[in-house]
Amino acid sequence: MTVLKILVAGHPVLKKIASPVHEISEKIKKLAADMAETMKFAKGLGLAAPQVGESLRLVVLDIGYLDFDALSKDDQEKAPDPVMRPLVLVNPEIISGQGTVEQEEGCLSVPGYRAVVPRYESIHFRYTDLNGKLIERSVDGLFAIAVQHEIDHLNGTLFIERISRLKRNIAQKKVKKYLEELDPEDDETSYRLYG
Ligand code: NI
Repeated sequence: MTVLKILVAGHPVLKKIASPVHEISEKIKKLAADMAETMKFAKGLGLAAPQVGESLRLVVLDIGYLDFDALSKDDQEKAPDPVMRPLVLVNPEIISGQGTVEQEEGCLSVPGYRAVVPRYESIHFRYTDLNGKLIERSVDGLFAIAVQHEIDHLNGTLFIERISRLKRNIAQKKVKKYLEELDPEDDETSYRLYG
């Protein structure tokens, strides 16, 4: 598996409506695996294909691994599979949403900035898994927020477009500063790309 470069706000691919995945080919499976590796490396909860430069409706989510890393080795061995395996969503779609929740969000494509974003509290959504099975489920909490955030990426929307213009300007300045300070020799930061 490969750690991919993560595109940062300002890149045109992040603004595009991503295309549906028509076939779950070996290439798609490899991309999903690389995205999962990248997400883990970057310590993200989710990653959408446009963030690594692929304008496709493909998302990886892992709202469990941060907790997983905090577990003792013994407990890690006993942990159930879903904790360790990132969820891959092919062509995810929200069918309905209920309630409103406001929670602070961050994004690997908007480094160094977090803001409170209004979202549905719970959602009913569907996606295809890597075996081609269509799955429908209802989720709430962090899971629901993460799915909404990632589907936004597939529609060319960053979370900073859902906050006030003033806050967005602050975010853009922080991203600019982050990019100026980027050290190409430093592996921890240089995997990010701005183009
Ligand atoms: Ni994001």
